[in-house]
Amino acid sequence: MNDNLHQLRCFGCGARISGAEAQPDFRCVQCGDLFEVEYPGWGQREGPDRPNPGALKWLWRERRCSSEALDPSGVWRFRELLPILDSFGNAVSLREGNTPLYPLTRAAKALGIDQLYAKHQGMNPTGSFKDTGMTAAMSVARERGFEWVACASTGNTSAAMAAYAARAGLRSLVLIPEGKIAWGKLSQAMDYGAVTCQLKADFDGCLRLLTQIVKEAPIYLLNSVNPYRLEGQKTPAFEIAEAFDWNVPDHLIVPGGNLGNSSALGKGFRELHELGLTARMPRISVIQAEGANPLVRSFAADHGATLVPVKAHTRATAIRIGNPASWRKAARVIQDTGGWCLDVTEAEIAIAKAELGSEGLGCEPASAVTLAGLKKLRARGDVSPAETVVLVLTGHTLKDADYTIDFHRGTLLNQDESIGLEVEINRLQRNAVAVDATAAAVLAAMKGRAV
Ligand code: F0G
Repeated sequence: MNDNLHQLRCFGCGARISGAEAQPDFRCVQCGDLFEVEYPGWGQREGPDRPNPGALKWLWRERRCSSEALDPSGVWRFRELLPILDSFGNAVSLREGNTPLYPLTRAAKALGIDQLYAKHQGMNPTGSFKDTGMTAAMSVARERGFEWVACASTGNTSAAMAAYAARAGLRSLVLIPEGKIAWGKLSQAMDYGAVTCQLKADFDGCLRLLTQIVKEAPIYLLNSVNPYRLEGQKTPAFEIAEAFDWNVPDHLIVPGGNLGNSSALGKGFRELHELGLTARMPRISVIQAEGANPLVRSFAADHGATLVPVKAHTRATAIRIGNPASWRKAARVIQDTGGWCLDVTEAEIAIAKAELGSEGLGCEPASAVTLAGLKKLRARGDVSPAETVVLVLTGHTLKDADYTIDFHRGTLLNQDESIGLEVEINRLQRNAVAVDATAAAVLAAMKGRAV
């Protein structure tokens, strides 16, 4: 395949433009919708640009053992499927991707499912899935000569952006909702040298303001409205397919916030299928927090045809988003793959997170909605025991240690939220205990007895 054959296609009206013609806010001038990266020629089954599936699978696997500049990256390892740069020499990489796919044996047993896995995107360089998208879009920013990049964020995008900007030698601006992001994430933006502005606004307000700012100054917008972000974020789909020897799992479950990630993973699986690398698509379901569930409401009202923004509230601050930018794309993915869109309560999120922790796989609260959602789907009979299910865990547990500590100390949930779930919650709580500095006291503590 030739390098950089891409163009941008409006998801709303289908208008096509070149990458250089995109507006600073990445909205279509004709209809206001978002763009998707498109590679002409990929649709033509017999065309010369159509890759050879067998050769590609072999090449991508070989690169895992290569130390050539971009090969150790789990994103650029697949660069034939994201030819978005004029020169791959402009790529900015922190060796992202190549994240583990863990079997979840205890959860599988409890749910009566044979094959349950967690694709842990929290095992990326800055601790979240955002790194896979950031390497792609930051590389475009560098190639196009920008000095400043910016994002609005609930924390993880800003951590990733600040790190990749620092590696690229670019300046970065972060807009975050004051008091509503986890400390781990805020500390990363500071550490990597971003100009960090805490605004008296929610995420949706931060993004609105930034959209205005990028129209007034030459700043490259790195939120997931930027279609190049999604090109990087589609690559975990390739890793998952590869891990199953190019037989895709039956069902992928993804948390939903601004809805870029579910859109990207859907695009990744769709392209694999269109290019003949896999025989089918997995079902893709999106799970939101009950207090930040605009897409769930949209599916309940008219199966994802319209979306009414909500005022968002959830302790899973990463997905505290009421007006998701990529909702149309995500709705299409759910519709096309026969997935579901549902929401889970604060207590269900906390319990699922503790259950994942007790399997040795910590994650941040927003990631745990996937297990909570799967439990609901299983209880409804929408997931059968024979299905292979993959949960996408989006962030590392250390991102939001306060949440975890509050849960184990019993100060996270209020009485109303935990009603009927007290036994389950008690069973999972492991608060630290103050113990006398004697062997007898420590041994007693191991048996759960005070001395
Ligand atoms: N999980 C985590 C840990 C996140 O940080 C986010 C989004 C999501 C899930 C939802 O993904 O927005 O693509 O649907 N975080 C963004 C941020 C909004 O600013 O870090 P989405």
